[in-house]
Amino acid sequence: MNILVLGSGGREHAFTYKLLESKRINKLFVAPGNAGTDEIAINVAINPTDFNAVKKVVLEQNISMVVVGPEAPLVEGVHDFFLADNELKSIPVIGPKKDGALLEGSKDFSKQFMEKHNIPTAKYQSFTSETLDEGYTFLETLNPPFVLKADGLAAGKGVLILDDLAEAKAELKEMLTNQKFGAASATVVIEEFLNGIELSVFVLTDGKSYKVLPSAKDYKRIGEGDTGLNTGGMGAISPVPFANEDFLSKVEERIIKPTVNGLQKDGIDYRGFIFIGLMNVAGDPFVIEYNVRMGDPETEVVLPRIESDLLELFEGVATQTLKEKSFKVTDKTATTVMLVSGGYPEGYEKGKEISGLEKVEGSLVFHAGTKKEGDKVVTSGGRVIAVTSFGDTIEEALKISYKNIDKLSFDKINYRKDIGFDLVK
Ligand code: AMP
Ligand code: GLY
Repeated sequence: MNILVLGSGGREHAFTYKLLESKRINKLFVAPGNAGTDEIAINVAINPTDFNAVKKVVLEQNISMVVVGPEAPLVEGVHDFFLADNELKSIPVIGPKKDGALLEGSKDFSKQFMEKHNIPTAKYQSFTSETLDEGYTFLETLNPPFVLKADGLAAGKGVLILDDLAEAKAELKEMLTNQKFGAASATVVIEEFLNGIELSVFVLTDGKSYKVLPSAKDYKRIGEGDTGLNTGGMGAISPVPFANEDFLSKVEERIIKPTVNGLQKDGIDYRGFIFIGLMNVAGDPFVIEYNVRMGDPETEVVLPRIESDLLELFEGVATQTLKEKSFKVTDKTATTVMLVSGGYPEGYEKGKEISGLEKVEGSLVFHAGTKKEGDKVVTSGGRVIAVTSFGDTIEEALKISYKNIDKLSFDKINYRKDIGFDLVK
């Protein structure tokens, strides 16, 4: 069968790599893809949120399944678009419809969902410009630090954590009345600060049953020791050592089951990934956020640890037979280190030639912001390449990634040398 993956990052390269292990795939297309997907699949130069362009590719290339990488097409309704079109409606889309995608598209919706289904999360209230004064009053009842979240999608920038009450009030006003994050901050969620260690758990569901995928922890800050600006993610490890059986069973009982059951009860037919951002507060899990897709770079450590056929699992999602599919994960640890363009997450240059790719041994190289220019591979984004390795321990896996990274170069290359630093002794 022919499959189309939507997206262009390291996550989508990892999907492509993993899907190609399935013998039943004839042609695999990636839209728009990158230089890494171009080597192993067929790139199509379209924008994944241009649904008519997606339709054209699907019909022309006889595609029988669409796998959605990023959140934007889901939140904008790509799955609904397929179901409403006579020529597309029988083609499964891996990823929720608009109603389910609201779990990521609206923080207010996701908090209401958690409250309704008794899923542990930080206490909160939501405000609009009409209720600014009530927002100030609510802030006065909380202890610092204060957590303000723009309701809508804000490219990962919509969360502010502030120590000072006056500053928190000023920012709330900026968000609500001066549209600091545009329409995304027309509603703001204010919530209690949770003190703990973060990790993520991923679930694949067909709306009825689910598989719990490996846990992972990503490193979001640009600087070593978790300092500096937030990025899309500078590296990741899986599994997370402190997510032991006891903790993960709490996650399953208190969070995963009520989430999947809650979606069903609310009439949301959800077929795809649920990325649950968690805080481990003294051994108890609390939900920080839901995403309706896989994480990047978490996918680059989660998928390589899955030993089962990903296409089989996706078919289980499409036909609601996921329960019958076998699911196996390796005990080995996977780590990934992201190579980024100097200057990222602020301004950076593109078009730098990447050398040494052919010298990498014993690691998986997932391309993110790369493209082909003649015979060369050049940088085309902030996050450029994720180098994933396996080991019996985090240290062992990282050693292999860093050894291979020494062979790779491009002008102004930057990466964190301390991925996993907080987890190894
Ligand atoms: P979010 O976009 O909701 O994941 O928030 C971005 C980041 O802000 C998270 O990854 C956490 O590091 C932090 N954060 C969000 N909510 C809270 C909270 N209630 N308590 C502590 N940290 C938080
Ligand atoms: N690495 C975090 C994310 O994909 O949202």
